[in-house]
Amino acid sequence: MVHNIGVIGSGLMGLGIAQVAAQSGLQVRLNDANADALQDAITRIRKGLERLRDRDRLDGDVDTILTRIHLTTDLQEFAQSEVVIEAISENEDLKRGLFAQLDDICAPHTILASNTSSISITNIAAATSRPEYVVGMHFFNPVPAMQLVEVTRGIATSDTTVDKITQLGEQLGKTVVQAADTPGFIVNRILVPMLVEAIYAYQEGAASREDIDQAVRLGLGHPMGPLTLADLIGLDTLLAICDVYYRGFGDPKYRAPILLRRYVTAGWLGRKTGRGFYDYSSR
Ligand code: NAI
Repeated sequence: MVHNIGVIGSGLMGLGIAQVAAQSGLQVRLNDANADALQDAITRIRKGLERLRDRDRLDGDVDTILTRIHLTTDLQEFAQSEVVIEAISENEDLKRGLFAQLDDICAPHTILASNTSSISITNIAAATSRPEYVVGMHFFNPVPAMQLVEVTRGIATSDTTVDKITQLGEQLGKTVVQAADTPGFIVNRILVPMLVEAIYAYQEGAASREDIDQAVRLGLGHPMGPLTLADLIGLDTLLAICDVYYRGFGDPKYRAPILLRRYVTAGWLGRKTGRGFYDYSSR
């Protein structure tokens, strides 16, 4: 059993991972380079817990769960964490820089896990002196609601590390699947080409954004349409994923639509900035 974890990056994913870990009784240190993002995260975690409580779906009490989450901007506080889960922006240089720092700070047997959607675990692990302790632990958005975790191994990840992270996933109430270190692992390898195709369809005027979403919901039985889902994921994150796949597979099917690139340049990143394919400013 793991008793304490560190989570680095308190955006959409990091705050969800911290919430679920605290709900499961673990002590959590939550870090972000941006102190405002940390404050925002704890407010959102409280709201998420209160929503669950109001629907009678929370084991335990909101304030007790929140006392298990310690906010910090100081990476040195991760020296004694049993497992550190990284959920910072989807950028390989940033992640490699962070893993090199954690390698210096953390105890020698601390497992360093990445929630990356697309970046090679082998590449991230190569920035450390402990590649056998580096692993992918890929959660899905929103973390409290989504059942799956993909555990992904880099070329040097040890069986013991994979077993421990699989057990941690189960301790957090998730179902775990294991995947090799190929771009996109399992789910995103299948999902991202569909999202990209939906954006091309919209860009080319094949249908309105509402009709594209409605068609996929009703015609394929998906809970939400692909453009709505792209907005939920974050268009910057989706663009970064496309670029990694395009380089990784060398396959034009992953070439990012120009419209996606324009939206990201304009700061239209989806729900998190209030505008993406849809306008969320008044919602
Ligand atoms: P986000 O943009 O919401 O949050 C990223 C956070 O990382 C920001 O608060 C930022 O201030 C912080 N950050 C950036 N560099 C940092 C550093 N060096 N040290 C500490 N904090 C730093 O991003 P999101 O969506 O939470 O994604 C995080 C990771 O999770 C990415 O690798 C992404 O690919 C992955 N992921 C995202 C999913 C999604 O649906 N958005 C789903 C599954 C995985």
